[in-house]
Amino acid sequence: KKAKPTIIVIFGATGDLTWRKLVPAMYNLYLDQWVDPHFAIIGVGRSEMSNEGFRSHLLDGINKFSRTGKAKPEVWEVFAQTIFYQKADYDQDSTYTSLKKQITALEDEWGGAVNRVFYMSLPPQHVQQIATKVGEAGLAPDDKLSRIVFEKPFGHDLESAKKLNQFLLTLFHECQIYRIDHYLGKETVQNIMAFRFANAMFEPLWNRNYIDHVQITVSEQLGVEDRGSYYDHAGALRDMIQNHLLQLLCLIAMEPPVSFDADEVRNRKVDVLHALRKISRDEVHHYAVRGQYGAGWIEGKKVPGYREEKGVLPDSNTDTFAAFKFFIDNWRWSNIPFYLRTGKRMSESISVITIQFKPVPHQSFPSQATENWQPNRLILNIQPQMGIRLRFQAKRPGLKMQLNPVDMLFNYKENYPSGSPEAYETLLLDVMLGDATLFMRADQVEAAWEVLMPILHKWEANPSISFPNYASGMQGPEESEALIARDGHNWIALP
Ligand code: BG6
Repeated sequence: KKAKPTIIVIFGATGDLTWRKLVPAMYNLYLDQWVDPHFAIIGVGRSEMSNEGFRSHLLDGINKFSRTGKAKPEVWEVFAQTIFYQKADYDQDSTYTSLKKQITALEDEWGGAVNRVFYMSLPPQHVQQIATKVGEAGLAPDDKLSRIVFEKPFGHDLESAKKLNQFLLTLFHECQIYRIDHYLGKETVQNIMAFRFANAMFEPLWNRNYIDHVQITVSEQLGVEDRGSYYDHAGALRDMIQNHLLQLLCLIAMEPPVSFDADEVRNRKVDVLHALRKISRDEVHHYAVRGQYGAGWIEGKKVPGYREEKGVLPDSNTDTFAAFKFFIDNWRWSNIPFYLRTGKRMSESISVITIQFKPVPHQSFPSQATENWQPNRLILNIQPQMGIRLRFQAKRPGLKMQLNPVDMLFNYKENYPSGSPEAYETLLLDVMLGDATLFMRADQVEAAWEVLMPILHKWEANPSISFPNYASGMQGPEESEALIARDGHNWIALP
């Protein structure tokens, strides 16, 4: 399904996200003819820039970051003509009246109302003001055609998220609001639903009777880079767990949806969030571990500690690592632990979900045959490797009975050598199509905050822990090993 004629207005158009992700994604959608020839991008930013200057800045971004490599000159030439820049003060009404003029002029030229997408690609402190002005100026009049897209962070805690949701609902309908969680656009993340709900083979095993526990790891080698001033107010729990990791958990744990209707899928996900066991403040240390990286080595290069990073307070107690044990109190998952961990400056850049199955009920083999025995595991590789690995036991060839774990592998590279779209391609096309399945609904965002609030409160009330507690290039603090070891498990080594 191709997108209808669309005008995308990007607020914060000179920023990094537009340059690295949004416009390269739009270019690829254009290249693959997913968008209508009647298409325009209006970049709005505070810097002085001409249309030409803006276009060449974006071309540089496409050349550097597009998954299809450098822009094809003949495609770029046409695509560039769809891009405009407007310097603007976000608090001036004139910004919005002139946007309105520009939008209606294009609509008149194209012969009627088109999709209008307003993309908030700027820090949260500007978002409310701009959204108000967009609403008040009547820029998004039609709830079927006008949509507004928000990047995270969506609120700083439960209370602020609720306030923001309530406020936006005074200006727009929920169906117009698209809250991005870019993990949901990743090919391998979308494939979790395909894997679970398009195959009859695994679903009977997908419950407390056969699954021992689940591990979700999103580890990054990157530090905070130049985002210190944002990150130091956020931390790993707000930056990654509240959104990306809890969404992965929802996809693994949700009940099968009756259809792929946006609300049906999101209802099933929010059911999981509601079933997450609430932890009291006193129990936080049994369920959650935080960490902060110190100096260390990544791939043979010395890197500074978090507190030495630009924009970070020298005595900062912000978490750059977080690990949790969650329980989902429902029939399917009663008492099955879900272990989640994420961190910056870890040994590997890898996102992986491991489903560990229970052992066989009775081991018939003599003990020497089972020396290498390992539990059955289903390993969903999200990135950078993309694939699914099923680990089971086989007989090692030889005259003795010797069990050995082997893998059955589905690998994207081999099966689909032409590659996969970037998350932002999928998500931007969905916005243009008006399909909100992969976006966060207000109640999902709030339910995710709700479960994390006792942990945030506890951590913020007791900031005086001895950070840094892991060196860059390690797998997080020792307490994270202890969290899982208490249950007789260990974090499965990153491949
Ligand atoms: C973002 C976080 O949402 O996700 C970043 O703000 C993090 O801190 C990034 O680095 C990770 O995304 P990806 O797609 O590189 O795994």
